[in-house]
Amino acid sequence: MLTTKEAIEKRRSIRKYKTDPIPDEFVTELLHAARLAPSGCNAQPWRFKIVKEPELKAQLAQAAYKQLFITEAPVVMVCCADIQGYIDGSSSGAQDLGEIGAVEEKVVRTIRDKTEILRTLGTNNLGSRIAANVAIAIEHMVLRALDFGLGTCWVRLIDESKIRDIFGWDDNIYVVALLPIGFPAESPQARKRRELEDIMIY
Ligand SMILES: Cc1cc2nc3c(=O)[nH]c(=O)nc-3n(C[C@H](O)[C@H](O)[C@H](O)COP(=O)(O)O)c2cc1C
Repeated sequence: MLTTKEAIEKRRSIRKYKTDPIPDEFVTELLHAARLAPSGCNAQPWRFKIVKEPELKAQLAQAAYKQLFITEAPVVMVCCADIQGYIDGSSSGAQDLGEIGAVEEKVVRTIRDKTEILRTLGTNNLGSRIAANVAIAIEHMVLRALDFGLGTCWVRLIDESKIRDIFGWDDNIYVVALLPIGFPAESPQARKRRELEDIMIY
C-alpha cells in the first residue's frame, strides 16, 4: 500500500492499457474512495456510470473528440454531477451542519435554484462549483487506483451533451469527465511542473 505522498508522486496520466480485465472488487474500492470525498454542504452530487462495452467505449471516444485511447481501457468511468441531487443534498447537508448551515442559509437558497445552476454550467460560479465537488471524488479514485496497480487518465476534453445523448440522460446529469482505467502498458516519465516559487502569489 502506498503512502499518500508516494501515490501523489507516482501518479501519471496513463493512456496505454493492458487488455487484462479489472477485478470488480477493485472498481468497487475506487467507488468507495469517491464516496468519501468532501463536498459543499456534504451534498455528494457525484454519480458514476461504469462502461465496459466496446461499442459504448467507442462512442465515448468519439464524443471525446476522437481520443481513441479511451477504447483501450477495460473500464471507463463516466463521472457526472446530479444537479437535483446537489440541490436536495445541499439542503439536508446544510441542516446537518447546524450553525454553519444556518449562517449559510442565504447561500443555500441560491443553490436550490436549478435554472440558475443550469444557466451557469460551463460558464462560472454555481455550475462549476458542482463540477468541483465531482472533481475531488474523481481524484480520490485516481489516487486510490495506484494501490491496485491501476492507471487512469482524466478526460475532460469532451462534448458533454453528446455523452448525455449516448445514455439518454436529460440535463439533470452533467458529465464532468471520463476516467479510463486499466493496468498500465506504459510508464511515462514525470511531466514537468511549475517550480514552487512560480505558483506562489506574493
Ligand atoms: C481536468 C483535466 C482534464 C484533462 N483532460 C484530458 C483529456 O481530455 N485528454 C487527455 O489525454 N488528458 C487529459 N488530462 C490529463 C493531462 O493532460 C495531464 O494531467 C497533464 O498533462 C499532466 O500529466 P500527468 O497527469 O501525467 O502528471 C486532463 C487532466 C485534467 C486534470
